[in-house]
This record gives sequence, C-alpha cells and structure tokens, in this order.
Amino acid sequence: MNRRRFAHWLAVYAATSRWHTAQLLRAAEPEKGLAESFEPASVDDFQALAKAKLSPMAYDYITTGSTDQVTLRENVAAFRRLQILPPILAGVAAVDTSTTVLKQRVTMPILIAPVAAQRLYHPEGAKATARAAAALGTIQGVSSSSSNSVEEIAAASTGPKWLQLYPPRDRGVAERLVRRAEKAGYTAIVVTVDLGERKDADRRNRFALPEAMLRKHLLDCGFSIWAEMSYAELIRFNQQAWDTALSWEFFRWLRDRTRLPLLVKGVLRVADAEKAVAIGLDGIVVSNHGGRRLDGMPASITCLPAIAAAVGGKTEILLDSGVRRGTDVLKALALGAKAVLVGRPYAWALGADGERGVHTVMTLLHEEFTAAMHACGCAKVSDISRDLIILPK
Ligand SMILES: Cc1cc2nc3c(=O)[nH]c(=O)nc-3n(C[C@H](O)[C@H](O)[C@H](O)COP(=O)(O)O)c2cc1C
Repeated sequence: MNRRRFAHWLAVYAATSRWHTAQLLRAAEPEKGLAESFEPASVDDFQALAKAKLSPMAYDYITTGSTDQVTLRENVAAFRRLQILPPILAGVAAVDTSTTVLKQRVTMPILIAPVAAQRLYHPEGAKATARAAAALGTIQGVSSSSSNSVEEIAAASTGPKWLQLYPPRDRGVAERLVRRAEKAGYTAIVVTVDLGERKDADRRNRFALPEAMLRKHLLDCGFSIWAEMSYAELIRFNQQAWDTALSWEFFRWLRDRTRLPLLVKGVLRVADAEKAVAIGLDGIVVSNHGGRRLDGMPASITCLPAIAAAVGGKTEILLDSGVRRGTDVLKALALGAKAVLVGRPYAWALGADGERGVHTVMTLLHEEFTAAMHACGCAKVSDISRDLIILPK
C-alpha cells in the first residue's frame, strides 16, 4: 500500500473509531440507562459501556490485572491461539447446552464467578446478579466480599448459589459464615486460595472501599467490630482479619464442619489438583484469578489439558480467567472442563446496565456457545470432544 492510501485508511479508521466511541458514550448516559438505539453485541461492547459509565476507580478495579498485566493479557491471548477444527455434515438440528455441575442442572456450562464489591459499580450489586443468574438458570458464585450479606443475596432469588470464602484468621467467624450459608440454601463452598492483589491502577487511584461499605462488609462476614471504630481502624482491622498463611489443613478443618461440597479455586499445578483429589475435594477451579494475583502465571486454559489428564473423572474440573466468547467455552470444555466461570464480562455488564446487563451479556455468551456447538456438530454438551481443538505448537 502506498503512503497516500495508507494515510487515507488511517483517517477512515480514526473517524470510525471516534464514531463508535461517541455512540457508546451516548448509550451509556447514566441518568437515561442504555439508549434503546445501542445494541451491545459482545463482551467487549459491555466493557466499553462500563468504561464510559463508571468512575475510573471502579472501572479500573474491575478491569485491570496485577503489576505488568502479562497474565491478564495472556488469559485472553491463550484462548485465541487455540484453533477449532469442526467436522462437517454432522446432521445436527438442535443443540442442548444444558449440563450438570456438582449434580446441579444448569442451562449452560457458563457460571457466574465470585466477584467482590459489586455495590461499588451498581447500587443493587450482587442482588441484581442473583436475579439475572436465576432467570438464566445458572449458578451464581457469591463472593464473601460482594458487599451484601449471604442472606441478602439468597433472598434476592431462588437460583442456585455457591459461597466463595476467603478464610478469616478467626476460624469461629469462618464456621459461623458457613453455617449461615447452609441455612440460606447455598449448595457448595468454594475456597479461594490465590491471595494478595497488587494492581498499579488501584494504587494510582488510591482505591479503597468507602467507609460504610467496608463496615457493612466486615459485619456481613460476622466480625466483631465496634460502632465507634474509625475508618482507619476499620482498614487496619480488615488488613489483619484474613488468613494469609493458608495450608491444605484448612480443608480438613472445613470438611469436618460442613457436608456441603467443597471446591478449591486457584489451581494451576497438576500436583495440587492431585492433592485436592486425594483429600476428597468435590471440585477444583483451574484459575489464576483473572490475572489479578501473581503476574507471570500462565493462562489457566494453558494449564487445563495436563490437569484434566491427571484428575479428569476424579473430581469436577471448572475453569475461569479469560473467557470472553462462546468459542472459549467450547475450547475449555473440549480440553476437559465441566463448565467455565466468567468474572469481568458480567461485572462490566452489571456496571453498565444492572440486572438487564448481566442477563444480556450472559445470553450473548450462551448464544455464541450454542452456535459454536452447532458448527462443531455437537447436539449435546457431552459431544464436545478433545479432537475439536488444535493446541498451538
Ligand atoms: C472485580 C473483581 C473482583 C473479584 N473478586 C473476587 C472475590 O471476591 N473472590 C474470588 O474468589 N475471586 C474474585 N475475583 C476473581 C473471579 O472470581 C474470577 O476468578 C476471574 O474474574 C476470572 O477471570 P475473568 O475476569 O477473565 O473472567 C474477582 C474478579 C474481579 C474482576
């Protein structure tokens, strides 16, 4: 291409992207909700809407990853490097995307990942997410830091819910929280074990939960705090409240206290997956926490094949981090996951358009997954097989 043509195309590209941004900004005027004229068609559209609507602090909190964000980018890139090799003429008319996860029937193998501080980006927070998940027929992973209590979220919908736990130092608090979750009808406990978040954007933005939200969060978890504690004291309390010296012993302790299925979230090594099976855990979540923890870790989808080869059929294998398209769901299932969880896709959608946003973005992923299954000649989820995927050399 000569220089004049190149300059012409550059100008066209710049004008188009300016127009697109203007459309998104118009669509996301907070007081009007989404303009009827704008039809988000993808997870990326919801990310753009969230960026236009939320404060930089809230948007960056959701979006960014740890330090150089290498793992964050790799999560998405690794999915894109996988190729799908579909058989033709499979004669499939209808596709059934339903499956079971820990014996729970779900309409699709796409679950809601536990995500913290949801009232920071929508006033209804995880209650709006709960209603959308129930309407969709999928499982909601509820973060114990989601900014509403387990009871408030349980009351928002009758859909299936798992409680995600960051173990408090005080085991009494952990035990009471698990009891409350059992009573409120939660059907599994997910213990997240990849701890510590170091995100440059959050430091630059001086990210912190507002005082009232932090106070409620600590009370919701069942900590004993006093009404007269200052904001600074609450922050200090929160910094010291959580067990950062976790070991496998926690699962033995927990197994003796609840009959609910137990999952460990944050597995990347085969040996750890084998250990989880050996101690009788009901499921593992292959996850690098969406690139929010130690930067430099591989994408979870890269770790999945070896883990599936080692423990497939011995425990339920779930995966998250980097799922942005229905084809990513198909790839993860072909490589051995029973289901995937998504975090940012619905967090952006919640910020952009509340319950309706979550419902829409999950429906888009569901539709894309349905189309991918159909294109691969899979009438049901169990037809999705390993040979559909070409791994990168
Ligand atoms: C804003 C935000 C908050 C999160 N909070 C939690 C949490 O409280 N507990 C947890 O186990 N994982 C948490 N995660 C991680 C998600 O559960 C999930 O592992 C991750 O988002 C998956 O990657 P994805 O965002 O690329 O889908 C959070 C993720 C985001 C984006």
